[in-house]
Amino acid sequence: MQKLKVKGKNILSGEIKVSGSKNATLPIIAASILSEKKIDLKRVPIVKDVVTMCHLLKYMGSKIKINYTKKNISINNKNKKFKNVAPYSFVKTMRAGVIVLGSLLARFGKAKVSLPGGCAIGTRPVDIHLFGLKKLGAKIKIKNGYIFAEAKQGLIGTQIKFPSISVGATENVIIAASLAKGITYLKNCACEPEIKNLTDFLNKMGANITWSGKREIKIIGCKKLKQVSHQIMFDRIEAGTFIIAGALIGKKLKILGIQTNLLNTEIKILRKMGVKMQIKKDHVNILHSPKIKPVKIKTEPYPGFPTDLQAQIMVLMSKAKGKSQIKENIFENRFMHVPELNRMGAKIYTSGNLSYIEGPQNLNGAEVMATDLRASVSLVLAGLIANNQTIINRVYHLDRGYEDLEKKLRKCKAKIFRIF
Ligand code: EPZ
Repeated sequence: MQKLKVKGKNILSGEIKVSGSKNATLPIIAASILSEKKIDLKRVPIVKDVVTMCHLLKYMGSKIKINYTKKNISINNKNKKFKNVAPYSFVKTMRAGVIVLGSLLARFGKAKVSLPGGCAIGTRPVDIHLFGLKKLGAKIKIKNGYIFAEAKQGLIGTQIKFPSISVGATENVIIAASLAKGITYLKNCACEPEIKNLTDFLNKMGANITWSGKREIKIIGCKKLKQVSHQIMFDRIEAGTFIIAGALIGKKLKILGIQTNLLNTEIKILRKMGVKMQIKKDHVNILHSPKIKPVKIKTEPYPGFPTDLQAQIMVLMSKAKGKSQIKENIFENRFMHVPELNRMGAKIYTSGNLSYIEGPQNLNGAEVMATDLRASVSLVLAGLIANNQTIINRVYHLDRGYEDLEKKLRKCKAKIFRIF
């Protein structure tokens, strides 16, 4: 089992270029199933979840070429024997695999997709996905851990108001409605930038999708799709993670290849905490920030503070002089990093979906356990500021969503190494 070794207290300086977004790439690869034309994706993060999604499509019958150095993927889904099945073996490790349901249903009128099951941060149900697909006319049955979906006459456009905001459900239904007969009006959609990147991709492919209101989308079903080349947007969460690293122990750390207009909430909160930053359109310079102040935040769907940065900002809060608070509104079990941070000397108390963080606390290096993708990176951040050395176990969690993390940090003078 691979581990990461981090030697604390090294000031970070230099430049980090952020990779493409995992959470934009996954639905876009799933959506590519709609088309039999060639698809080229650029600036793809070559992380475990993306490779798993490629393996799932290859299993179905796609021809996929991954260029690991150029970070490009070319996909060709033209195959008479394309399997409209997503087996448990793929979906159990990468829940986003359930997003192929919409495209399989739209293209083949029939799909068998494994229920994803839960993960460390929550039960992760898919009822809202199924609600939306049923509204489009799909007949859905659940049996032996699988979703059996069918739309013999094809999917029919309609009006759908999501009962609650779900990123994955919004993506699944947008993809399915792209080929439905007639017009679909969606309300109460998730509006994360990654979903906008998905609709940009679909429109380039020949779909007809417009965002009419903050959470409203109109989709006119199309018939023909064309060849497309698309650049994946930057990874918002990776950018936020490195900005917080700079806030923790940076001195002139530049985070580039980003769109700061998509990070307004994060930047506002970090400024409130006393983080010194120069904000430009496509990069951020983080300066030495000696006085960190406590804040009270809650995680919300975009444009609110992202749940995927909750574990990371908690580390910064342990440096703040005073008591901070986090209310986790999205997932029911997303404080798994707290016991590990407390073992390093943090003073964090949780009650239900609330965490109270007292600071400033000096953290001490320890051997710790990663439990999920974002918890694991919060342990790396803690290791960067802790005395002595921190060993992070189960690094495979980290490899699901961060590309070349230790290489990027080492380039900025961090002492972080992988132990095999
Ligand atoms: C996406 O997950 C992201 N994953 C998550 O990032 C992210 O944390 C989450 O959105 C919220 O922003 C990808 O994009 C691949 P949801 P998703 O559906 O789509 C409940 C990471 O670290 N819900 O918006 O699964 C659900 O349980 C990952 O990169 C239902 O009840 O999130 C949760 O409480 C972690 N029924 C809430 O809604 C449903 O049918 C939000 O989930 C679907 C969701």
